[in-house]
Amino acid sequence: MSERAHTVTITDTDESFRCGEGTVVLKAMVTLGYRGVTSGCHGGGCGVCKVRVDEGSYDAAVMSRAHVSEAEERDRVVLACRIKPRSDLRLSVVGGIGKVIARQQKKFGLV
Ligand code: FES
Repeated sequence: MSERAHTVTITDTDESFRCGEGTVVLKAMVTLGYRGVTSGCHGGGCGVCKVRVDEGSYDAAVMSRAHVSEAEERDRVVLACRIKPRSDLRLSVVGGIGKVIARQQKKFGLV
C-alpha cells in the first residue's frame, strides 16, 4: 500500500511538489530537486529551513527553541526538516542562510 501524498507549495518560488504523509517536507523537496527552502543539516540543528505554514495541517517533531520560539510555533513557524504534511501545504520562507550568517558574524564579533 502506498502512503497518502499531498501537494506542498512554496509561495516564494511558486514551486510545488508531492510529499507523502510519512515523509519530511524538506527531504521530499530536496529529493525531487527543488530548492525553494534552504537545506542544511536536516536534523533541526541549524535553523536554515525555517518556514511559515500559511495553509494546511502538519505533524511537527520537537524543534529547538534556539530556532523556533513558542510564539513562532503558535504562529505556525516551523522547521521544514521537522514537519510532515497531513494535508496540502502552502509555505513561506522566513529563515535562511542569511540569518544564520548574520548570527554567526555577531557571535564572533565580526559586525
Ligand atoms: S535543515 Fe537544519 S534545521 Fe532544518
